Amino acid sequence: MESRAQWGTRAGFIFAAVGSAVGLGNIWRFPAVAYENGGGAFFIPYLFALLTAGIPLLIMEFTIGQKYRGSAPLSYARMNKKYEWLGWWQVAISFVISTYYAVIIAWAMTYAYFSFDLKWGDDPTSFLVGEYLQVANPGEFGGIVPGVFIPLVIVWIITLGVLFKGIKKGIEAANRILIPVLLLLFIFVVIRAVTLDGAAAGLDAFFTPDWSQIANPTVWVAAYGQIFFSLSIGFAIMVTYASYLPKKTDITNNAFITGFANSGVELLAGIGVFAALGFMASQSGVNVSEVVEGGVGLAFMVFPQIISEIPALNGIFGAFFFLCLMLAGLTSLISIVETFVAGLVDKFKISRNKAVVFGGGFSALISIIFATRGGLNFLDAADYFINQFGVALAGLVQVVIVAWVLRELPSLQKHANSMSDIQLGGWWKVCLGIITPIVLGYMMIQNIVTNIRENYGDYPTNFLIWSGWAVAVLAIIAGFVLMALKWNKGTELDVPENKEVSQ
Ligand code: PHE
Repeated sequence: MESRAQWGTRAGFIFAAVGSAVGLGNIWRFPAVAYENGGGAFFIPYLFALLTAGIPLLIMEFTIGQKYRGSAPLSYARMNKKYEWLGWWQVAISFVISTYYAVIIAWAMTYAYFSFDLKWGDDPTSFLVGEYLQVANPGEFGGIVPGVFIPLVIVWIITLGVLFKGIKKGIEAANRILIPVLLLLFIFVVIRAVTLDGAAAGLDAFFTPDWSQIANPTVWVAAYGQIFFSLSIGFAIMVTYASYLPKKTDITNNAFITGFANSGVELLAGIGVFAALGFMASQSGVNVSEVVEGGVGLAFMVFPQIISEIPALNGIFGAFFFLCLMLAGLTSLISIVETFVAGLVDKFKISRNKAVVFGGGFSALISIIFATRGGLNFLDAADYFINQFGVALAGLVQVVIVAWVLRELPSLQKHANSMSDIQLGGWWKVCLGIITPIVLGYMMIQNIVTNIRENYGDYPTNFLIWSGWAVAVLAIIAGFVLMALKWNKGTELDVPENKEVSQ
């Protein structure tokens, strides 16, 4: 009988799953995506995507992990030996993301510190690309930037330190502290933002529905994309986390709690960010639409300016905002590194500590690429391609294989229903077997066509081939290579716990 580490409590598991889901995507991605896709009207496709794809897939991933009790590669291998590569592919995608996500957390940490003396001065944009990151031309490395490298080392020490301590004493304990702290800081930031002059204009811009957009397919695709990324689905993460659930536990209700908690934070972020943008627009006497940004631009160019402009306690407000980014990022980074730590432990039966040193250490080494002067360009391209042709594609392939090739949905449904408060009905299979593959398939075709037609972000083609396309393709190849390696003899490839569960 294998003994697998376990979460200490149900709440501990939920904190960890929410910790993974609530990440940079909630704070810097959601507000801009919602605004650009119909504002208030976006909530309809968004809720639809949450209920037809987000939560159903979360239930599916939780059930797979809990039933097959393995990291993603082991769980898929136990489902059917031929599909181990799917798990490794998702693990490889997660590996790539971990390498640059760590760097963004390092920037946030630095900016929390910079906030105290508003170090970015009058022109935060030139400060970021010039003085701080010293950005080189696309494709050039141009030496390590110490101001990024040093905080990056700290980020890795914290992350690997938590992972060394294991599931209960490490990941669960960290999330139990960090998630409540994050929420408190975040509520403070949002309250300060909505009480600024001009906040109402920002909220107006955010919530005013543009109903003309609702029939536009790109809006629906944006909603599915946001839900997918935001709930950490298709990353191997939720399967891995669920593999540490006890043998008897609720699955479906946990997925609903996680999904709604994540969307709650997203909504709060939209309110906070747009209130702050409204303030900034009113300070410079322009329309809110002129200051809207997402991603790096929002966090490291627009927010520093807002922080400089607020009337009092700028340092505290700034430090709290960047600490929120840092904590949201750290709890997601921990979850994503755990996917390959767990994969290595299962496949090669090495100790957890060794897996953290080799797996985590390797990711940390590669992350140094993004701490060079060329880092921002590499990061931008890798992030874009791995999300478009990694996460979304792996998610699509995953539902098609589970629903149609292996026809696993009925047995997963039975498994989830045997231990959950909420009973899954036929709707669950319709969402996963029909709605989700159609929307994701459409999204994939659109993505491929757009990216072949024009170069992302006006980068040179050669640069995109190597730092974008190649990275996405290598992740799939890595899946097959890792599958070809032999499992350690100690790993049981049969489903371990079925007998007990069906009793
Ligand atoms: N849900 C995460 C987010 O919103 C996605 C993610 C998870 C990214 C883990 C990186 C690591 O940011």
